[in-house]
Amino acid sequence: MTQKNSFIKFDKDGNKTHDYKSLADSITTLPTLRSNIVDLVQSTENTYQTDIPIFVNNVRKDQSLVAQILKVARASKYARLIQVDTISDAIQVLGVERLRNIALKQSFLGNFLKPNPYKHGFDWKAFWKHANAVGVISSIIAKRMGKSDHERFYTAGLLHDMGKMGAFCLDENKMLKVSSTARTQSRSFIQTEKELGTPRHDLLGEAIGESWDLPEYLIMVCRYHHTYFRGERMPDQSCSEKREQLNEYIDVVILANCWAKKLKQGYSGHSCIEEPESIILKNLNLPESMLEEIIPTIIAELNEGSFLDDLFEAA
Ligand SMILES: [Fe+2]
Ligand SMILES: [Fe+2]
Repeated sequence: MTQKNSFIKFDKDGNKTHDYKSLADSITTLPTLRSNIVDLVQSTENTYQTDIPIFVNNVRKDQSLVAQILKVARASKYARLIQVDTISDAIQVLGVERLRNIALKQSFLGNFLKPNPYKHGFDWKAFWKHANAVGVISSIIAKRMGKSDHERFYTAGLLHDMGKMGAFCLDENKMLKVSSTARTQSRSFIQTEKELGTPRHDLLGEAIGESWDLPEYLIMVCRYHHTYFRGERMPDQSCSEKREQLNEYIDVVILANCWAKKLKQGYSGHSCIEEPESIILKNLNLPESMLEEIIPTIIAELNEGSFLDDLFEAA
């Protein structure tokens, strides 16, 4: 899985920097987001508008995904009353959102989680747990804010750290060194990347998102989820309405990332909480008591999800 490319370039002041576009393009081992999965995710981003026939068609394009979904659906406690033979049956048993989550897990993390979740010294199962928790919490916050597109917030939360997967594929030893240095010296992952001069996972995530042609909001969340001040984001975005929309995705994911760590949900390569929670709450016009209010919902949704995760692993 290791590719040792340097891809160094120089900025206008003559300082050495990483060429993120070339780095992203050089990653051939990262499980690519197959186009049917992109379609599938996009067709379920707004639950109220999911076109079931299109969704079923997208799932059917991937035979291993069909097999995985049927196994999980048949094994689930919801399958007692109905025989599950088709993807439409599985939708009745599990619902579109759960099927979407299975597809995302298979697409993004399948290669990392199987056969060994502790591949090469990094706990990818705990990483999935962190990413999924950030997705779940992002979508709960978005629902509280009255957002109809809360499913997009889930996707944004799930994918915010995908640059770390890219960094691992580029040079696993370097990525593991960042992780162990961050852990032993109680520093954040991004701060350690900067100190060690390794590629930054926020910039790499942005470059991967661009090379995969992901929607802009996902690219911006990857790029700015460690940029806490709105004034330091998106210098080229001139439309203020668009800027506000994108800032909401970014802020919600920053908050969810912070809360997932506070609630000890999974592990993303470091344990340091650095997000300035009160600034983000103010940006989003949310009360300081918000986390306390939504903890029961978060725990309930994560528990239900982990039940499905167990089935996924057993399948
Ligand atoms: Fe991050
Ligand atoms: Fe994270």
